[in-house]
Amino acid sequence: MPNPTPQEQMRVNPDFTYLNHASIGPLPKKSYDIIQGGFKLQMEEGERKIDYPAIEDLWGLLRNNGASLVGGDKAGIAITANTASGLHIVAEGLSSKYIQGSNIIIPDNEFVTNSYTWQQIANKYNIELRILPTVNGFVGIDIWEKQIDENTVLVSLSHVQSGNGFLYNLKEITDIAHSKGSLIVVDGIQGLGAVPFNAKKLDIDFIAAAAYKWMLGPLGKGLFYTKPEHIDLLDSILVGWFSTPNFRELYHQPFVPWEDARIYQQSMIDPTLNGFNASLETLLRWGVSETYFHIIHLQDYLINLISEIDGFTISSSLEKNERSGIVKINHKESESIVRYLETLQITVSYRAGGIRISPHRYNTKEDIDNLVEGIKSWVRKN
Ligand SMILES: Cc1ncc(COP(=O)(O)O)c(C=O)c1O
Repeated sequence: MPNPTPQEQMRVNPDFTYLNHASIGPLPKKSYDIIQGGFKLQMEEGERKIDYPAIEDLWGLLRNNGASLVGGDKAGIAITANTASGLHIVAEGLSSKYIQGSNIIIPDNEFVTNSYTWQQIANKYNIELRILPTVNGFVGIDIWEKQIDENTVLVSLSHVQSGNGFLYNLKEITDIAHSKGSLIVVDGIQGLGAVPFNAKKLDIDFIAAAAYKWMLGPLGKGLFYTKPEHIDLLDSILVGWFSTPNFRELYHQPFVPWEDARIYQQSMIDPTLNGFNASLETLLRWGVSETYFHIIHLQDYLINLISEIDGFTISSSLEKNERSGIVKINHKESESIVRYLETLQITVSYRAGGIRISPHRYNTKEDIDNLVEGIKSWVRKN
């Protein structure tokens, strides 16, 4: 039997045109079936069918697949709940480094998760949060160069900006940060799964991302990666019974943690982990490079069609190395266009004055045709 196509693997309601993966990605059918089956067993059998060795095997697979997606060592991968929980492993884990006069740096247009985290740390430890100005939606390399200094503990930024889809050249920023003795923390939620990533090549220290956008994973799960050599650098802040290889010993005993990033995992019996693994396997089988290529191809098709309609401009960068899964179109009535499209069952997002469009590997040119027809129909009515 031939392998199912990406369209066959997804079960988005066929009445919809869904181009909104930068918000929440739908689950592949296989992931959903696995998760539902796991909860059915819990409903009917409680603990009876819980197979601890199988759970350990699953963590192994999941962390292997996570390492492939991130392009880093499995030893540095931990499964988390979302982006925020991954960022906090670093944020509180580095507390001993927050000394008088030190600073943390972020761009001025970060999604709030990656802004609140560092605002809270700066307030709590009484250090400076240096917020860098963006021009055209990103911080220029000259500004990073000027602002990162010897007192910078860490720089944190989104690989892909959620509002406009700008893809940072992380290696340039990482090299500057490292040359000043600073660490780099990446919010990876808008990139991982849509844009090829290689933590080793980019020399990234930490990356955190939830699974529910481009990874097509379940809500409530995420990936965290640290360079394995930084595990000693981070105080572990939230440990649980699975933070040690001795998790079968249930009562008080000396705590001997995992020597790898599993120390950051707490309670790990959860059918959504199985579903998350199925999502990663689906994605890795599609191939992230192929997925990125497909998305850019769909965007180019869209951009061509949109350029023929008066009043619309593309506000995302179209430079080859600055493109991601997100493309943003501007129009002075963007908000009402997005609301109108929703009445036609076409889902995109209104973001910062524009229309944010975020297709995935299983979307087709017909989906883009539907979107463009919807926009033209709004134009005719207005
Ligand atoms: C850049 C970015 N970071 C974080 C989040 C969400 O964080 P969390 O995974 O903690 O829900 C979003 C959601 O849109 C986002 O775009």
